[in-house]
This record gives sequence, structure tokens and C-alpha cells, in this order.
Amino acid sequence: MSDSVKENQKKRAANAAMETILPHLSPNTVLGIGTGSTTDYFIDELKNWKHLFDAAVASSNRSSDLLTSYDIKVINLNAAPLIDFYIDGADEINPDRVLIKGGGGALTREKIVAAASEQFICIADDSKRVGRLGSFPLPVEVLPMSRSLVARNLIELGGRPIWREAFETDNGNWILDVHDLFIEDPREIESKINDIPGVVANGIFAQQRADLVILGSNDGVTKF
Ligand code: 5RP
Repeated sequence: MSDSVKENQKKRAANAAMETILPHLSPNTVLGIGTGSTTDYFIDELKNWKHLFDAAVASSNRSSDLLTSYDIKVINLNAAPLIDFYIDGADEINPDRVLIKGGGGALTREKIVAAASEQFICIADDSKRVGRLGSFPLPVEVLPMSRSLVARNLIELGGRPIWREAFETDNGNWILDVHDLFIEDPREIESKINDIPGVVANGIFAQQRADLVILGSNDGVTKF
């Protein structure tokens, strides 16, 4: 798929998400906003409707900066009431709406904001749809001092962790990208990885799976 086709699909998904939430916006609405190129398209559309809602909670410094540049009010999660909608992209999406996220390294805050939201709407281009998760290397955020320990444990789980060198998360931590992981039961693997001391969060979103997926295609959008 060419880059421009993919970009058009992302825009389609982002615009369809905006259409979906538009009737529900009110002066009290707080939105959760994810991170990545597809979310950037959503923010680009959202700026046209900023008079219809109260504020946004961002899952990364990058998205917070983009929202602020459009004069959209950004608030801290601790200051937010229940978030009505969380809108974010994904790196892989299975038929059960379980995701792999974290390609951009924002997975921990993304999971937190998703958990604080009533409805998680995942937007993506069609290439993100998979039958089984795991071709995309699974991002795992770790405390820096635990990198080798976590890596050894991930090898025991059958993965091949590679340190994302020269990358620090917004939380001051590091990322291991786990290749070749056989993810038969996403919820089980998500919990097993979370149990390794030093792991902050991993990119499997099974417990925080999407409530609605909107995939952009060449003909329009698919929702499931
Ligand atoms: C960032 C993410 C992104 O949502 C994911 O990487 C998809 O990004 P894009 O919309 O650029 O394809 O999880 O941590």
C-alpha cells in the first residue's frame, strides 16, 4: 500500500470518528486523545469543533503540544472527571478489537487514559487489521535499571526483545520491542508480562481493548 493511500485511509478513519462523537459533545465533555499520525489527523479535525467541548486529556507530550497549538484546553488526568471518549490509533488490531500499541512509545499513558474513559474508539488505516497479534514487535516500557532482567524474562516467554536505543518515554523510561512473540491468548500474555518486576506497561491492549474500531479503506470506512 502506497504512503498516500495509507494517509488517506487514516484521514477517513479520523473524520469518521469525529462524526461519531460530534452529536455527543457538550460544554462538559472531556476527551482523551492518543498519540500518532492517525490521531494527529483527528486533532486536526477536532480543532474545528473546540467550541463544543470543554477540554482534552493527552496521552503524550507530543499530542498535548499539538492540542495546545490549536488552542484546545488540555487538562491533567487527575483534574478530569470521567472521560467520555478516548480516540487513538493502533499498530495491530485483531477481530476482537484487541490491540498492539506503543509504536510511538506512549503506551503507558495511552493505557491509563483509555482506562479512565467510557468509550475507546480506535482509528487506523486498513493495514493495521490482523488475524492474530504479534507480527508487529510488542513494545514493553521498563524502568531503566530493570532492562536486562525484563529482557531475560521476555526471552523465557519465547520473545526476542530488542532495546529501542536512544529513546526515552515521556515517563523517563525505556522500551523493549519484543519480536517473534506467539500471542495466542492476548489477555494472558498481557498479564504475564505485567508481572515481570520492572515492567511499567506493555503494548497489548486486551484489558483495555477498543469499544469501537474505525478502519479507513479506499471505499470508505469499516466499523466493528
Ligand atoms: C503510539 C501508538 C500509536 O497509536 C500507534 O503507533 C499507531 O500510530 P500511527 O497512527 O502513526 O500509525 O500506539 O504509542
